[in-house]
Amino acid sequence: MSVRPLPYVTLLPRAPPSPVPGHTHAHALDSDGNPVITTSGLTKVYRSRGREVTALDGVDLHVREGEVYGVIGQSGAGKSSLIRCINLLERPTSGTVTVAGQDLTALAGRGPRAGRELRRARSRIGMVFQHFNLLSSRTVQDNVELPLEILGTSGKERSRKALELLDLVGLADKAKAYPAQLSGGQKQRVGIARALAGDPKVLLSDEATSALDPETTRSILQLLRDLNRQLGLTVLLITHEMDVVKSICDSAALMEQGRIVESGTVSELLATPGSELASALFPVSGETSADDRTVVDVTFQGEAATQPVISRLSRTYNIDISILGAAIDTVGGLQVGRMRIELPGRYEDNVVPIGFLREQGLHIDVLGQEPVLLKEGAQL
Ligand SMILES: Nc1ncnc2c1ncn2[C@@H]1O[C@H](COP(=O)(O)OP(=O)(O)OP(=O)(O)O)[C@@H](O)[C@H]1O
Ligand SMILES: [Mg+2]
Repeated sequence: MSVRPLPYVTLLPRAPPSPVPGHTHAHALDSDGNPVITTSGLTKVYRSRGREVTALDGVDLHVREGEVYGVIGQSGAGKSSLIRCINLLERPTSGTVTVAGQDLTALAGRGPRAGRELRRARSRIGMVFQHFNLLSSRTVQDNVELPLEILGTSGKERSRKALELLDLVGLADKAKAYPAQLSGGQKQRVGIARALAGDPKVLLSDEATSALDPETTRSILQLLRDLNRQLGLTVLLITHEMDVVKSICDSAALMEQGRIVESGTVSELLATPGSELASALFPVSGETSADDRTVVDVTFQGEAATQPVISRLSRTYNIDISILGAAIDTVGGLQVGRMRIELPGRYEDNVVPIGFLREQGLHIDVLGQEPVLLKEGAQL
């Protein structure tokens, strides 16, 4: 499949972040949409026992300040490798990683002093793990204080900060509990509080919800969304669940075999004919009734309405149009509608009516004329 880079546009409109009382690093969204995480030509080749595995193969990623960015892909696609190379837990084989204006790959390469500088830079990157990675012998509060101990923060300040963060994630009453006394969702909240201890600009999350049940998943995703809005925190999350992308992501990328094969804002993806991500985010079903028909998926966003357009199309060209399927949904906070319609005759006979639909500002995807779409309900 070919790479389909998408245009780089400004952030989607969204409510201004509300300040969080007592929290120090609330800031406004960057309206320029400055990239806060950039990888360029990022490559990771694992070598073990004479075998080579190319986990990342020239990844160019741009995550803008203040957005929630989802990376999705099958097992083994390279998602965890990507996130581990971004915070330099894993040393990239080649390419660069820049986070909040700092070239981490250059830091990692600069002799003995680099270690300290890299550690400091890393404290500005929060990391949340699938299996929480809490220390069982420490209380919840002490787990959250751990990164602050490493940074050399004083005891009193550590305690103040940890309690503030536990309050932020809704666990103020669990400070003295031990991880074993918490539910999975509560453990992940502790993991998130710990990730926020160093006042990070960005939060990286590797399958943070895949060990949780659907209800708990929703509440953790909501927490990440709230933190994103309230603190202006940029979130890069890795998942293999399309629902996660659908519920909280502003932008998304699809990884296959170490490469990013599609990327863009949700809105751009939905407007891209043949986008696998778009059709997986928002599947529309409906079988054609005969061979000599043209099946068209019509996508509209926001206020646009297809109904009058479809009836005008029918009247103008005097053709019968069947609606095979239709749905309205919210994707990445956007109201999106999709309709699958059938026109009599083959594509060649319908070039003019299809042109008419495009002129109305609707996104048109002619089935069979574009790259193969993901099958309905297919899992990534
Ligand atoms: N430390 C390692 N040594 C050797 N090969 C590795 C190592 N880590 C990952 N790989 C290989 O790199 C490829 C990408 O792995 P990665 O863990 O990044 O995938 P993933 O997309 O996160 O998959 P999953 O959804 O299963 O977590 C795989 O082929 C994997 O076997
Ligand atoms: Mg993984």
